[in-house]
Amino acid sequence: MMNYPTPHIKATPADFAQTVLMPGDPLRAKYIAEHFLKDPVLVNNVRGVQGYTGSYKDVRVSVMASGMGMPSIGIYSRELYEAYGVRNIMRIGSAGAIQPHINLKDIVMAMGASMDSNYQAQFHLMGTFAPICSYEMLHAATQSAEELGAVYHVGNILSSDFFYDDDEGVPEALNPKKNWQKMGIMAIEMESAALYLNAARLKKNALCICTVSDQLVRHEYLSADERQTGFEQMMQVALETAVKLEK
Ligand code: HPA
Repeated sequence: MMNYPTPHIKATPADFAQTVLMPGDPLRAKYIAEHFLKDPVLVNNVRGVQGYTGSYKDVRVSVMASGMGMPSIGIYSRELYEAYGVRNIMRIGSAGAIQPHINLKDIVMAMGASMDSNYQAQFHLMGTFAPICSYEMLHAATQSAEELGAVYHVGNILSSDFFYDDDEGVPEALNPKKNWQKMGIMAIEMESAALYLNAARLKKNALCICTVSDQLVRHEYLSADERQTGFEQMMQVALETAVKLEK
């Protein structure tokens, strides 16, 4: 058992709700707290990674940023699960779609998170673990998306260590994006696999839902304003999911 306060979160277990929503960006966490939660209280501010707890439809909900990439979400999710007793972590992020039928602003829900990272080496497995989400959370999230009329896709995503990859001189047959696409990967982001691995190891629940901000096949990208509106619908889905998890 990890003791609190932890190196990256200065709080007590009572400060956090059983469900924590995790955007990548600390300023987005603040925005969510101020616009969607009732009576938000700042519970962490180490490194400017603001964590808030408030309520939505009378259910306590926390929101705290993960930072970018698997090392970062690996740290925050492990501390929240292990030292602060958090039960459910829902990443609410953005992703780049690599399938032509997935459009900008659609929501992708990561049933599985494939990866090009070495994060799972720490678990000393003589094989390859398949990081998957919590079925309970996925079920609640798809129900919420149906109720809200959101366009969503459920499947496998790629958690990548690379936002910028060096494809100079790489032959087409070795193009990673193309090959992940052939395997049915819906979209690329950079955090979910580490979150799912930590949840598995610590017997907790995790789910990642992302708004498609980039269509990498068609080279289409949301503007700053469009990112905001796409994001609001995902927030509604996430908050309704948190309410369902409480019942
Ligand atoms: N790659 C990785 N992560 C992302 C992307 C992407 O294209 N878009 C949003 N998050």
